[in-house]
Amino acid sequence: MKEPRSLLLVLGSIGGIWIVIFGVLKWGEYLLNSKPPVLEVSPPSRSPDEPLPVLWEIPLFSAVDQNGQRVTTQDLRGRVWIANFIFTRCTAACPLLTAQMVLLQRAVRHPDVRFLSFSVDPDYDTPTVLKRYAAVWKGDEARWFLLHMEREMLYRTAAGLRVAVLPLDDPVNPILHSNLFFLIDQEGRVRGLYDSNDSEAMKQLANDALALAGGDRWLPASELVAEESAAQVGERLYASLGCAACHTHTTIAPPLAGLFGKLVTLNDGRTVLADEKYVREAILDPAAHLVTGYLPLMPSYRGYLTDDELDHLVAYIRAQGGSPTTPQSADVSLAVDPVCKMEVRSGNDTPHLQHEGQTYYFCSEHCRATFRQNPARYVAPAKQVVERERSPR
Ligand code: HEC
Repeated sequence: MKEPRSLLLVLGSIGGIWIVIFGVLKWGEYLLNSKPPVLEVSPPSRSPDEPLPVLWEIPLFSAVDQNGQRVTTQDLRGRVWIANFIFTRCTAACPLLTAQMVLLQRAVRHPDVRFLSFSVDPDYDTPTVLKRYAAVWKGDEARWFLLHMEREMLYRTAAGLRVAVLPLDDPVNPILHSNLFFLIDQEGRVRGLYDSNDSEAMKQLANDALALAGGDRWLPASELVAEESAAQVGERLYASLGCAACHTHTTIAPPLAGLFGKLVTLNDGRTVLADEKYVREAILDPAAHLVTGYLPLMPSYRGYLTDDELDHLVAYIRAQGGSPTTPQSADVSLAVDPVCKMEVRSGNDTPHLQHEGQTYYFCSEHCRATFRQNPARYVAPAKQVVERERSPR
């Protein structure tokens, strides 16, 4: 009777020890594992042309934005919005998350789309801190809300988006949070999850948001890269044509940084607005308006530059700052999109291009691309007027 019982005891304790060892190993594995031990949904796979699924309703939340204004779920009804989780002290994942957020704002030019960054660091990220952060990133603060919430509300909101926020005991990465972007529709329903590390997913997000908001499809790289490289090509031209040689010496020639949108006084006493047209003329026909205080030293570049080269030079000068198409005073200038005939603001953030010395403004990248393919078709009948009502100042 005694023998089997002690055998059982021995066997039992060996089993127990193994369970303990197994547990310790598993715990170590869990600690070592870089995968967050949080409930984290993953983006459903979907081909780009499939309709967006309706995933689930977003939770009700109330937060304070970088300007101290309250933002609630209710305020966002009727709008499409894109959200992510960040914190300003984060140097690991957040710089990329915020860079993507800012790129999305560029790609999704639709005025009704909103962008929300929920801070996961309520103790540190006060509205003031968030305001500073937004300024550093130069995001579109008219549409971008950086949100501070009470901790409990934050956890509830995260859980409602089916991700978790997890403070860690790690100085480098003190708070674990999701790297996903969420797309929410006008009725407060989650319509998509997008991995911020996947640039294709980010483009898809831009297009899905535009589709939901009823905008045109975003035409990526070709359009945006062209805009960027125009200024870069212009910079090379600027150096190789000798512009820099004179214009870096203020005693020789006026500095061009910040020129766009400035009022320039000419030597005949007139004051003119340095807009697109003025800058073009200054390059092609400098004698037509001499800047006061300067000698007529500048050669005319007419005949030396192709239309494209002139565009690039102007793009480069524009890239050096100033308020590109509007003077400091708040006049609202309107133009008509030559493709769809919609009235649009002729601001620098409106898609635009140069054609035969004229600036044309478009409601969307799509119209701009359509125009570019065959400008003659859109300018022939009636030359588009892009008059700016100059404010008397
Ligand atoms: C030989 C010196 C010289 C060179 C080279 C030169 N500029 Fe100028 N530029 C001037 C001077 C002097 C003025 C001011 C007098 C005037 O309005 O003509 C001026 C004026 C301008 C203005 C108007 C600035 C304002 O404040 O209103 C623009 C724009 C400009 N230049 C662009 C260019 C570009 C682009 C190039 C190269 C393609 C260039 N310049 C090459 C001397 C030069």
